[in-house]
Amino acid sequence: MKCKVCKEPAVVCLPSHNAAFCPGCYEKFYMKQVREGIRKRKLLNRDDKVLVALSGGKDSLSLMYALAELDYDVTGLHIDLGIPNSSEKARAVIEDFCSSRGFKLTVVEMEKEGMPMPLVKKHIRRPICSVCGKVKRHYFNRVALEQGFTALATGHNLDDEVARLFANTLRWDQAYLSDQGPVLPAENGFAKKVKPLYRLSEYENANFAFLQGIPYHHLPCPYSGGASFTAHKMLWRDLEFKSPGTKRSFYEGFLDRGAPAFASFHERKAEEVIACTDCGCPTSAGVCGVCRIKVQLDRALKDEGA
Ligand code: AMP
Ligand code: FES
Ligand code: ZN
Repeated sequence: MKCKVCKEPAVVCLPSHNAAFCPGCYEKFYMKQVREGIRKRKLLNRDDKVLVALSGGKDSLSLMYALAELDYDVTGLHIDLGIPNSSEKARAVIEDFCSSRGFKLTVVEMEKEGMPMPLVKKHIRRPICSVCGKVKRHYFNRVALEQGFTALATGHNLDDEVARLFANTLRWDQAYLSDQGPVLPAENGFAKKVKPLYRLSEYENANFAFLQGIPYHHLPCPYSGGASFTAHKMLWRDLEFKSPGTKRSFYEGFLDRGAPAFASFHERKAEEVIACTDCGCPTSAGVCGVCRIKVQLDRALKDEGA
């Protein structure tokens, strides 16, 4: 197969774009998708100070690389969850990546915050992945605001976004649908959140990381139970295989024609947000979820010591 652009031998074939690319033209294609995605949905301004959440996976590292290539002011943020045999590997990959390319990096250690994930898993009787997600989002926002960043960028890709939109649509969850999209503005104690890879699939990001020689951490979280490929993602893989481009048109169609119908539910939710009485972060209760977890952990540790 030949590259659609320069006719050299192709290494990546993308049926959804009816195209195949050689390595050089693939990089140009990828960068164009990121640049156009940012422009079309007004994700970032040229003077934004961007905090990029780095998990060590292919998506977030490719995102950091692409935003730096596009001349945005970027700093990495990694949340070290303190999970044995996993967190140290992810962190080492990120530290190497950032130091070898001269990127600034901030690391928050959950051990030092008094809530390493093994301790949370042992004492908090709720699904660990949802608690962990809550804790990560809390620190993303907190670091962004405390350190003067104007945008928080995550590596969510088209597959992540479609899976989430699909799940929210199956439940017709109006409040969640009102928050779905590649940009959430700064408001009510929340930093602006952006997902500049929303036009690129997991496959496209994996190819980019590979061709750019970006080493990434690819082992799943040991607490995930191997469920990283959900039933919905499997369904979408089949749909996309039979009809290339369906994922993109479902998602972009929602942004253009579905999202406006749910905007009023976001406004309603925003009215309920107040500052946590302990840490000042936004919450709908008096004390935020993360401060409540800290209190529960302190109590459990005291009981254990008693
Ligand atoms: P996930 O929910 O694991 O698919 O991650 C989605 C995005 O959240 C990643 O692309 C990263 O931008 C960010 N992220 C996940 N885990 C971490 C972490 N431990 N530290 C910093 N960012 C993270
Ligand atoms: Fe958070 Fe696994 S429990 S990444
Ligand atoms: Zn709090």
